[in-house]
This record gives sequence, structure tokens and C-alpha cells, in this order.
Amino acid sequence: AKLNTLAQSIGKLYFGSATDNPDLTNTSYVAIFDDNTTFGQTTPTNSMKWDATEPEQGVFTFEAGDVIANLANSNGQLLRGHNCVWHEQLPDWFTAARLWVTTQAKYSWDVVNEPLNDNGTFGSDVFFDTLGVSYIGIALNAARAADPNAKLYINDFNIEGPGVKATAMMDLVTSLQSQGIPIDGVGFQCHFIVGEVPEGFQQNLEAFTALGIEVAITELDVRMTLPATDELLEQQKQDYQIVISACAAVPKCVGVTLWDFTDKFSWVPGTFAGQGAACPWDENFIRKPAFDGIALGFGA
Ligand code: G3I
Repeated sequence: AKLNTLAQSIGKLYFGSATDNPDLTNTSYVAIFDDNTTFGQTTPTNSMKWDATEPEQGVFTFEAGDVIANLANSNGQLLRGHNCVWHEQLPDWFTAARLWVTTQAKYSWDVVNEPLNDNGTFGSDVFFDTLGVSYIGIALNAARAADPNAKLYINDFNIEGPGVKATAMMDLVTSLQSQGIPIDGVGFQCHFIVGEVPEGFQQNLEAFTALGIEVAITELDVRMTLPATDELLEQQKQDYQIVISACAAVPKCVGVTLWDFTDKFSWVPGTFAGQGAACPWDENFIRKPAFDGIALGFGA
């Protein structure tokens, strides 16, 4: 099964995978990544973030991000820029809110990343504490000016199922729309735990698209407590299938991005001790049952 070909055959724009520059030194990895019948889109995991692109104030280094942008271009893959405004991975010199945006995206930008707390209030960070909620509109307007053709997104986690955080995100979108601020889509990160895909995920995607925006699954992975057993891998397959089927069923869910495709380069073990095996390919680049779950979700 060719996952991007399958996704496009049911009207999606893409199926893709995030990537990070060090991954690209592994030839087995690149052989899978470069095939645009498997991955029709990519998102740089780290190299377009603020700490990577302006490590010293006024000193800009776009080279690493450009490596991924250029590779996507030569592979015929869409690019999601990630990200402009986020309270993590700020450079050390950073003390006051100011705007940064670049113009490398070939489809979309995560302009604002993770603005909300789980209880639906705005997160306290240098942007919100300096500018109030206006920072979101300032960032979106600046992004539109800098890259008029890119779809502009707000991207977050724990908004996948209905609840206070999802409602707060919908209220934010409505408020931006009423002010004439450009907002094209909401990204659902989907960093899930095996067996815990939220109830009502598809209906929630539909509720967002009913606001007149598109949605995308931007950072999908499904982690488990190690070791990975056959039972856990089977549940993981079903979880991937549920997520992909939900996007498949919602016309304005434009595509799905894995937060990298192989366990070898997953962020999960470094962040959650004792957990991992979150990706559809294992650390030896062998397809896991989750791969079949994705294909089934796209209707294979
Ligand atoms: O590059 C340095 C390296 O020089 C150094 O030796 C090493 C030692 O710690 O750190 C390396 O930087 C790490 C970087 O990943 C590259 O591997 C950072 O410490 C580490 O914090 C950073 O983690 C990234 C994380 O965002 C930052 O919070 C993950 O790779 C990345 O997958 C993760 O992605 C986020 C999305 O952007 C937003 N949504 C959640 C998602 C998962 O947290």
C-alpha cells in the first residue's frame, strides 16, 4: 500500500511525516522518506523553530530549515512550516515578544502553537503576558503579509475530543473571524496513548470545519508502555485506523502528518520514560501493524 497515494485517492491533499535534519543522514530512513507515494508532505520537527532560526538576536540561520524545504521540493512533497510563535524552544537571548516569520512554507504554517491551557484559558507565556490575546492576531496578520499563499493554522493538543479546551479553541477561531483576522485551519496534534483515542474525535473535527475552516492531523503518534507486545501493537493498529478513518470521513480534514515515521527517531522515549514504539515503522524501519491500520483507515 502506498499511503500518500491512498490518501489522495480519497480526496485528501496528503499523507506525510515530520522529519528532523539528523534523521536525513540515515540512508535506510531517506529511502522511505523520499518516496512521495508514501509521504506527500513533511513538517520540520525542530529546524524552523525560533531557537534554530535566530540563535543570537539578529543572527538568522535558515540553512537547516531550508535543507528540509528543498528536499520536500525535490521530492514533490508539500511543506508545513513549524512554527512561528511557541513558548517552547525560544532562543536564550529572547526576553520580549517580537514577531518572527519566514516564507518557506509550501502549503501551511503552524503560526501559533499551543496557545491554550488544558482548562481552556490562555497559557501564560512571554507572548500572552506581554501582549494579551492580541499576540495571536498580530502573528496571524504578520504571517499572512509574509506568506500570502500559505494556509495559516493554530496548532494544539488535547483538543482532539470534545471538551473545554476544544470549545475554547472554537471560541478563539470565532473571535478571530469576527475581527477579520486570517485563520485558515486548526491543527490537531494527536499525540495519543494506545487505547485512548478520544471519543467523539470525528464529530469534533466536523464541529471545527463547520466554523468554515479546514483541519489537519499534524503530529500523529500513538505511544505505549514498553515492551511492545503483540496485543499492544494490535490495539495501536486499531488506534491508527480510527484516527485516519475520522480524517477520511471529514471532507475538510486535508491531511495527516506522522510525528516522524520510525521509532528510531521518535521524540517519545526522550520525554516519557518507559514509553515508546509510537510510530508505524519500528526502529529497524520494518512496518508494524499500525501501517496496515493507516492503509485500512484510508479505505484500502
Ligand atoms: O540539538 C540539541 C543537541 O545539540 C543537544 O546535544 C541535545 C541535548 O539535549 O539537545 C538537542 O536538542 C533537542 C531537540 O529536540 C533536537 O533533538 C532538544 O533538547 C529537545 O528539547 C528537542 O525536543 C523537541 C521538542 O519538540 C521540544 O519541546 C522534539 O524533538 C520535538 O519532536 C518536539 O515537537 C513538539 C512539537 O514541536 C509541538 N507539539 C509537541 C511536540 C512533541 O513535544
